[in-house]
Amino acid sequence: MDNEHKSPLPLGRLDLRSDTVTLPSPAMREAMAHAAVGDDVYGEDPTVNRLEALAAAIVGKAAAVLVVSGTMGNLTALLAHGQRGQRVVCGDESHIYYYEAGGASALGGMPYQTLPTDAEGQLSLEQVRAALVSDNDIHHAPAGVFCLENTHNRCGGTVLPLAYLEAAHTLAREAGIPLHMDGARIFNAAVALGVEVRALTQHADSVQVCLSKGLAAPIGSLVAGSHEFVTRVRRMRKLVGGGMRQAGVIAAAGIVALTEMVERLAEDHANARLLAEGLASIPGLQVDLERVQTNLVRFELVAAHIAPPDFLANLQARGVLMGSIGGRIMRAVTHYGVSATDIPQAVAAVREVLAFSF
Ligand SMILES: Cc1ncc(COP(=O)(O)O)c(C=O)c1O
Repeated sequence: MDNEHKSPLPLGRLDLRSDTVTLPSPAMREAMAHAAVGDDVYGEDPTVNRLEALAAAIVGKAAAVLVVSGTMGNLTALLAHGQRGQRVVCGDESHIYYYEAGGASALGGMPYQTLPTDAEGQLSLEQVRAALVSDNDIHHAPAGVFCLENTHNRCGGTVLPLAYLEAAHTLAREAGIPLHMDGARIFNAAVALGVEVRALTQHADSVQVCLSKGLAAPIGSLVAGSHEFVTRVRRMRKLVGGGMRQAGVIAAAGIVALTEMVERLAEDHANARLLAEGLASIPGLQVDLERVQTNLVRFELVAAHIAPPDFLANLQARGVLMGSIGGRIMRAVTHYGVSATDIPQAVAAVREVLAFSF
């Protein structure tokens, strides 16, 4: 490997399906190999403790806890915030609702109330206000927790503006309902806005951040919030079987992720823009360049002559992997394993697939 910041992928394969395919950096592997460890369920893993303290400081919360995945982080946060019979108010396109197996409902007895999501990943604050205010009618399930997602995955990595976050948080406070932020890619949002991540997380009562996406750690997410809240999350983590023992080997990579991998996200954003502009120049595709704000490129296969599975299979045959997020909507994601010099290969492969499939 000639470059410390280049994640090795199998030769000739350009994997743009997700930033979850990133491989750990050499510095992460080194840190993992030498991590001081202990039994984390006893609170005795020094590397986990260091990671949790570091993460809490970075997101500006009193405490944080390491969990296995973003899904577990969101689930344990929702279970810690609400109670059986209370509503989880979230967007209809949110990862929490769409991709997390209905966890809060299945395991916590909390029904989801979904609100329409606009193209930018925002929910109407008027609708949020109506959903959060409980009317004491015995027929209605009271609101338990309100969720936002930043950046927004299914909307194509869009960033929620600071003013929107502030207004949403004010609303939630007025209603007395905690705001949980699914910040799987919150560092992408912060880098895109040019602000410290805590400028965003200050507008949430709790946040879930992923180490294993653009930050390239192999495993792990953190849930942060008040001391009392994080203590409840720890209990919920145990409940779902997520208490880990010598988890310092994972946490060591997480520390590298938080300290060395955040700034380089700007490179992923620049590559996503290059890719989006390349794709936008190809007849048969529709790309909304305004919505390419971070490392996700969402585009529509409008060329009717090719079915989405064939488009993806033909691309794969040319060594380029992309994904579909439903129907004719495709997604390509730039990350640590992709460099600017890879982008022309991806654009050329797409152009060829569309040209040859008439
Ligand atoms: C916005 C968002 N939240 C949560 C998750 C869940 O993370 P994990 O795959 O680690 O469970 C993802 C994963 O892609 C995501 O995009």
